[in-house]
Amino acid sequence: MTITEDTQHTGDGGWRERFDAMIAADERIEPRDDMPDDYRDTLVRQIAQHAHSEIIGMQPEANWITRAPSLKRKAVLLAKVQDEAGHGLYLYSAAETLGTSRAEMLDLLHEGRQKYSSIFNYPTLTWADVGVIGWLVDGAAITNQVPLCRCSYGPYARAMVRICKEESFHQRQGFEILHVLARGTPAQREMAQDAVNRWYWPSLMMFGPPDAESAHSDTSMAYGIKRFSNDELRQKFVDMIVPQAEALGLTLPDADLVWNERRGHYDFGEIDWSEFKQVLKGNGPCNRQRLERRRAAHADGAWVREAARAHAANRAARTREEATP
Ligand code: 3HC
Repeated sequence: MTITEDTQHTGDGGWRERFDAMIAADERIEPRDDMPDDYRDTLVRQIAQHAHSEIIGMQPEANWITRAPSLKRKAVLLAKVQDEAGHGLYLYSAAETLGTSRAEMLDLLHEGRQKYSSIFNYPTLTWADVGVIGWLVDGAAITNQVPLCRCSYGPYARAMVRICKEESFHQRQGFEILHVLARGTPAQREMAQDAVNRWYWPSLMMFGPPDAESAHSDTSMAYGIKRFSNDELRQKFVDMIVPQAEALGLTLPDADLVWNERRGHYDFGEIDWSEFKQVLKGNGPCNRQRLERRRAAHADGAWVREAARAHAANRAARTREEATP
């Protein structure tokens, strides 16, 4: 793919060459730098989608905070859900450096014009689902997001460093929940296996459509935003979780999962892309519920935004008064 020409920055004839040279040299682009519109648009689209995933992703796990099986589990889960809110904030801030406000992005989410990850449209039916979200969902997120720490856009890359550190703690807490359940009573073991059965395929869908159908991968990779394709990351993830499932003593529900000596990777079964498309269209098991809850939370928080604005106005007025001789 060739990076497209852009005509909006003709004031300084050299900006495009400088931008291309920085991308070629794997240097970071910063908010002050001129950039082509499709670079900016791709970043805003991806970072907004990512931020929305973090805050909608709080819902399925928050569902278990009051029912966590011990005080310790409750404290850990509470901290994890708060971490996800923090990730949303870092990411909205990174997107804001590109000139799109958080309010605009949230409006687009609430109107269904920007997406969030398909995975959060599935229900958390048992406590084991909290373990599987940590192990598989956060595990998939880490696989996808560690390369984003090397993203060509500085503010996104820097936000990802901290997010990935926290996600790797999240993954371990999920693995540990499953480890305990898998060695517990037959009913606990069965609950863990049932959760793995329900989340395995949706977690493979998190990486997005197959490369041949991925609309944005070429542009993203040419610009050093994405470093690996959707299929490459999906394969990395499968290769990572197979030995982990063995260590847990749980089975991945995929009859075609087999080590391929020639490829040096695990082969895995065909994903049901019609299910993925339905979830993206808004017809997953929890799409409506998730968006309704999000809109309600936003409306409930209106007084906080008003108070913050009033406080900022008061401070600005005080600063002006103090500056007046
Ligand atoms: N769920 C919802 N939408 C998805 C999707 C998924 N699993 N996979 C792809 N899509 C959407 C894309 O956003 C795009 O829609 P758009 O044109 O309206 O923006 C469309 O399907 C075509 O897909 P592409 O492959 O062309 O899109 P991308 O190049 O953007 O690749 C991606 C998709 C790999 C998800 C990429 O956006 C990405 O790496 N995003 C950053 C990471 C991210 O968003 N992760 C969310 C996971 S959950 C999470 O982080 C929370 C944590 O707490 C677990």
